[in-house]
Amino acid sequence: MAIVKIETDVYSVGSIDWDRRLFDELIPLPDGTSYNSYLIRGEEKTALIDTVDPTKADELVENLKKLKVNRLDYVVSNHAEQDHSGAIPEILRVYPEAKVLTNKKCKAMLSDLLMISEEKFVVVNDGDSISLGGKTLSFLLAPWVHWPETMFAYLKEEKILFTCDFLGSHLATSDIFVTGETEAEVYRAAKRYYAEIMMPFRKTIQKNIEKIKDLNVEIIAPSHGPLYKNPEFILDAYKDWISDDVKNQVVVPYVSMHKSTRKMVDYFVNALMNRGISVEPFNLTRTDVGELAMSLVDAATIVVASPTVLAGPHPSVVYAVYLVNALRPKIKFASVIGSYGWGGRMVDIIKENLSNLKVEIIEPVVIKGYPGGESFKSLDKLADTILEKHREEGIAK
Ligand code: FEO
Repeated sequence: MAIVKIETDVYSVGSIDWDRRLFDELIPLPDGTSYNSYLIRGEEKTALIDTVDPTKADELVENLKKLKVNRLDYVVSNHAEQDHSGAIPEILRVYPEAKVLTNKKCKAMLSDLLMISEEKFVVVNDGDSISLGGKTLSFLLAPWVHWPETMFAYLKEEKILFTCDFLGSHLATSDIFVTGETEAEVYRAAKRYYAEIMMPFRKTIQKNIEKIKDLNVEIIAPSHGPLYKNPEFILDAYKDWISDDVKNQVVVPYVSMHKSTRKMVDYFVNALMNRGISVEPFNLTRTDVGELAMSLVDAATIVVASPTVLAGPHPSVVYAVYLVNALRPKIKFASVIGSYGWGGRMVDIIKENLSNLKVEIIEPVVIKGYPGGESFKSLDKLADTILEKHREEGIAK
């Protein structure tokens, strides 16, 4: 990635990963990603904020050499996950005088994950500051966005907040700052990122976002995706996503083997639409789980649709509900529709796999064989009940 000047003596020196298509062997990256790293030159000391994925360490070192960085005093580690910390050992090899500046929890994790030795660390506490000479960095602990050790760094003079994963997006782009033209694209990427990475920590984010509200921030510089010169753009989006408010939307993840469940899904989707409810069906045999996660950011209701396979739900449905359960969306209502040939525990297993969610279960509609007249009446009744629940929530007409 090209070196980009952010402010006087503050540079973006990280790497764009245009080709990466999977993160954590789980999360699809349709738009690639970036590992942002920032160099800050004070009058006396130089600091690097986060590094890059170890596969891109050479690029980072090359950028530092291009900027004629002969001495590095601090590598600030805001988060121990290897896409940001993985190049620290290489930086310490190239700059043996550098100290890793981080909090106590992150130090322990970096020692465990990267085997960085004790004498390499400088530990900071919540609210601590250091001077680089004309540039002051302070540190705010922000646990659980999204690991227990996460923190933010704030550059006081330039009013830049470095948030690492928080407020970021998996988006490879040559536009380093969000602009009016790219806002829609970045909004979508940031929402997807929130859904996949941050949503399980919605409640702690509500507290952490309070911590930064009184800071005078002109630029938010995350460690994935573009930077925000208009902090309100991303902060307002997050405030909406983390709020307890849900929207008049139903998510329908489904699998169908012999078209019985599919017929039910098609009927049910129309029934919801006819009642003025937005609906997003996801065929789980070909769904990008990031899209499914994103749909759960706002939806009030999930209705899982499955055939019965070997006495339980289809395994693709089990995978999806396991993921939904882990992501802990703020949905309020859940139900199940589907079919069976001779029996099984399909509904019970789906319900058991959604146990993290504080949802009201609406009476499922599970039928034997192919759906007929009575089945459609039951699906209409389910759609009526959902409409009624959404009305009680004040989100449907
Ligand atoms: Fe981008 Fe949690 O690492």
